[in-house]
Amino acid sequence: MNTSLQSLIAAAGLMLAAGAYALTPDQEARIEDLLSRMTQEEKIGQLNQISGDGYSPRMSEAATKGTAGSVLNEVDPTVISRLQHDAVEKSRLGIPLVFARDVIHGFRTIFPIPLGQGATWNPALVEEGSRIAAKEATSTGVRWTFSPMVDIARDARWGRIAEGYGEDPVLTGAMGEAAVRGYQGNDLSSPDALAACVKHFAGYGAAESGRDYNTTWIPDVLLHDVYLPPFKQAADAGAATFMCSFNEINGVPSSGNSYLLRDLLRDSWGWNGLVVSDWGSIREMIPHGFCEDMADAARKAANAGVDVDMESYAYLPNLAKLVEEGKVSQATIDDMVRNMLRLKMELGLFYNPYAPKSDASAFYTPEALEAAQRTVEESTILLKNNGILPLKGSQKIFVTGPMADAPHDQCGTWSFDGEKSHTVTPLAALREKYGDDAVIYMPGLAYSRDLSTDGFAAAVKAAGDADVILYFTGEEAVLSGEAHSRADISLPGAQTAYLEALKAAGKPIVTVVMAGRPLTLPTESRLSDALLCSFHPGTMGGAALARIIAGEVSPGGKLPVSLPRMVGQLPLYYSAKNTGRPANEITLIGDIPLEAGQTSTGCTSFFLDAGVAPLYPFGYGLSYTTFEYGAPELSASEMAADGSITVTCKVTNTGSVAASDVAQLYVRDLVGSLTRPVKELKHFEKFTLAPGESRNVTFTLTADELAFHNAKGERIIEPGKFHLWVDNSSLCEAAPVEFSIR
Ligand code: GLC
Repeated sequence: MNTSLQSLIAAAGLMLAAGAYALTPDQEARIEDLLSRMTQEEKIGQLNQISGDGYSPRMSEAATKGTAGSVLNEVDPTVISRLQHDAVEKSRLGIPLVFARDVIHGFRTIFPIPLGQGATWNPALVEEGSRIAAKEATSTGVRWTFSPMVDIARDARWGRIAEGYGEDPVLTGAMGEAAVRGYQGNDLSSPDALAACVKHFAGYGAAESGRDYNTTWIPDVLLHDVYLPPFKQAADAGAATFMCSFNEINGVPSSGNSYLLRDLLRDSWGWNGLVVSDWGSIREMIPHGFCEDMADAARKAANAGVDVDMESYAYLPNLAKLVEEGKVSQATIDDMVRNMLRLKMELGLFYNPYAPKSDASAFYTPEALEAAQRTVEESTILLKNNGILPLKGSQKIFVTGPMADAPHDQCGTWSFDGEKSHTVTPLAALREKYGDDAVIYMPGLAYSRDLSTDGFAAAVKAAGDADVILYFTGEEAVLSGEAHSRADISLPGAQTAYLEALKAAGKPIVTVVMAGRPLTLPTESRLSDALLCSFHPGTMGGAALARIIAGEVSPGGKLPVSLPRMVGQLPLYYSAKNTGRPANEITLIGDIPLEAGQTSTGCTSFFLDAGVAPLYPFGYGLSYTTFEYGAPELSASEMAADGSITVTCKVTNTGSVAASDVAQLYVRDLVGSLTRPVKELKHFEKFTLAPGESRNVTFTLTADELAFHNAKGERIIEPGKFHLWVDNSSLCEAAPVEFSIR
């Protein structure tokens, strides 16, 4: 190791605080000393992030010459170690590299996709899974993940709805914060700590028509009240890094948006971490029509606050000249480099650059597999059940569908480092649980997009020999995630036709949907005796689903997104505005008489062919028991603008099995200087009750939580009346209780 660096390391001190750059004064001083000794080329090299391709001459040279400060997509521990030795032992100043990867929902042990993790409504579980992912990933030498993604998504056509926690800022914020805590742990310098990266900052999920990378138009009020809060929560949780998004907001690409990256993130929020671009997003400001050429793109990105250039190769060849031309200040460059050096210092890389010896024992531990299975059990949503579930007694089971034995696709998008050989599919788990003789298997369709009906007849015949049909449907992993938006979000291929064919067998049908997004399932809901939704559940999906189907555990999921009836309803979300003509008179297209009069169908805000309600609403999910919610009791019927009230609700398990539920507190601001949503989630709590057991769920609601941004961009709390519900979905069918802010 380079001797000058050793003195730096020895004096660096051993204890580092957590959070975005809570370094000791001594460590800051050491960084200044290093910065003062770096050439301009070495400084700019730290701002370049390149994608690994093994221990190639290109990579070794970048490490040795310091023309890259970080590497993404390298996960081979031997390659990481060799490149790190090149950087630390052979480069002039011995500055270590930091290695990054998209560890989005697990590393080797794949957990449910984030949308499924959102369906758990259990932040502690998300934190536990993120901690496990961090331990697996860091065992290879990776110390930085590009996760959590906290983009709010209200359009299921968008493929990346899979990667976030749904449509609501409170649920998304809680999950994003939990993921940051899990990844980073209590001490970022610990070898098993993974620097989080909150993305995609910002507004990426508002892509017009749900088409990925598309234009976003977001009024400030909506940006501040819906899209930004989860990012602020993650920043406050100490996330070490942020990633700017590909999209433009109101004409300004995020990679060149100084309002977002400096005025808001750093000046207003006081966050002092590192901002990395998205892949090539600096370069993409040219096709956006925001920059003339790469030099212009580098200038705008650096001045806007993007510290590290991921795979645009804009900074390396242009920044030095831009400084000479006075278009980017030296102080700006030094701040950017400082942020990268701080990240490495906080990760402890200056004094411990090498990962502990890695071996396969770090992966798929019993604890990891158990946590992954529990996460699936808590994320699987029971949408319909006529009593067929849980299966009773010994039955002949017909297992079918393209997702019944799809070990790769079951893991969903961004599961690069998972190994399908470790996936437990529903078919394998059901055979294990019920025995081979009890399970008849015919896929019926080979994969989710399969249009062939050739397998239907034989499958329907075979199903006639069974007592119940378990139909595993959904999407292949490639049909959601980045650049994979769909304009039709029904089941792909001939899956719906196959369900209709299966009805001819005359047996009860349990349909299980494993997808990367909410799908339109009106036929599936109508024809199935039970309907389960398990957003790409990952490695242990089959084991968990078998336990749920057998009744060993009650499904614990609640929808983190609204499930539309038709794609034409999108964008669709529960916290909508009431409009001047709320849809209280609905005449559906099939009910309209011939030559009906122009105004005879009711002049309110609905679709003739879809009504207005989702097929299943945000927050909804059944279980194997029933729960009763008492009327919420308030500690007071009014509060001051700086006050709070306590809300207590008695909940009872009125059924015959233990199960979990999620108490959700919604409010409605009845009149505002701007119109307010018909309801907004403010608090939630997941709990488990034994049969007959009751408990009080208590929330503290502050007036500050009822603030919103007005047209002037001010965050205000307005006096007035509010309605409040505590329920186990956003349906909130009980009468609200009223309170006011005086
Ligand atoms: C991708 C994604 C981003 C990811 C990055 C690195 O294009 O937009 O989420 O972290 O590139 O893989």
